[in-house]
Amino acid sequence: MKLCVIEGDGIGQEVVPAAVRVLRQVLPQLEIVPAAAGWDKFQETGDALPAETVTIAKEAGAVLFGACSSPSYPVPGYSSPIVKLRRSMETYANLRPTRFLPVPTAREGVDLIVVRENTEDLYIGDETTDDAGDTGIATKRITRRATERITHTAFRLAMTQDRRRVTIVHKGNVLPQTDGLFRRVAYEVSKDYPDIETDELLVDTAAYWMVKEPARFDIVLTPNLYGDILSDMAAAWGGGLGLAPALNLGDVVAVAEPVHGSAPDIAGQGIANPTAVILSAAMLVRHYWKLPVIADKIDAAVNAALSRGDYTADILGVDGMSTEDFADIICAELG
Ligand code: NAI
Ligand code: MG
Repeated sequence: MKLCVIEGDGIGQEVVPAAVRVLRQVLPQLEIVPAAAGWDKFQETGDALPAETVTIAKEAGAVLFGACSSPSYPVPGYSSPIVKLRRSMETYANLRPTRFLPVPTAREGVDLIVVRENTEDLYIGDETTDDAGDTGIATKRITRRATERITHTAFRLAMTQDRRRVTIVHKGNVLPQTDGLFRRVAYEVSKDYPDIETDELLVDTAAYWMVKEPARFDIVLTPNLYGDILSDMAAAWGGGLGLAPALNLGDVVAVAEPVHGSAPDIAGQGIANPTAVILSAAMLVRHYWKLPVIADKIDAAVNAALSRGDYTADILGVDGMSTEDFADIICAELG
């Protein structure tokens, strides 16, 4: 068993080593291969995602990724390494679960999974500007092929996890050729799964209901951009970004990464919550290595620690445990 570990920038360099320690505790035979990506790497070498990193990642098959800092202004030669990595590895499905965790900031009854298409939409990076820089244009790409495969992923997940409903989230009323296509193809594929209920919501309405009544959602199937936004939103009901895991899945590869970013506001202080990465690693164990008993153990250890009130500072907004101390507790819990 091999795992490519990419810490990335900011708190990635703190929370990923913590999660690796937890993984080692339950999978001592795991071979760890480190690789580099991110803004720091770009500053150093002019390359945010070196070809060598992609080679190592593909060869390992499984990747644990922290986060990369990406500026919100154009930088020649730079584009988001995680978006590029997902595309290079063809991890076309991004599973982002939010379930109730025993912290005061979480909402009881919430248990949803955002299934986010991961390879197209506005994230293909096809952006142009006029000479004056006064008009920007981005291409939104939706294809039948990508929509079919992400829809199959969503419905198969519904079947294997005993879930009832898949909600297609889109903005087909304004974008009939792109989101309208996504909606149409998703409904077509849904016919293969008559035991699962299918419904739909426009993305703005979905946002409203996700805030007001998050427990009404089960599986949320959506194109790339809406999935990105809605999964951060849902994370608030799971107890916060520090607790929100995600897994990018392809046919033969997987990249586990938290929903959160590099959190420059708290980076370097050793106080970031490693739970999101630990739970992302557990998703890798469950869905990629197909070891549900071990994944359950990790989830249970996190639950036990949080139930006791062992928190990092993000949970209550006051002094909390350090990243390392929290990882120690999880490792001890795992025996
Ligand atoms: P962020 O997710 O990094 O942080 C948002 C807020 O949540 C901050 O206040 C942060 O302190 C807090 N937070 C996030 N994770 C936490 C954790 N584990 N423990 C405790 N508190 C946590 O989002 P932001 O600030 O919008 O973006 C920062 C940078 O991260 C940007 O450069 C952005 O491009 C990048 N980013 C990278 C992603 C990736 O590589 N997958 C995903 C999202 C953002
Ligand atoms: Mg995001």
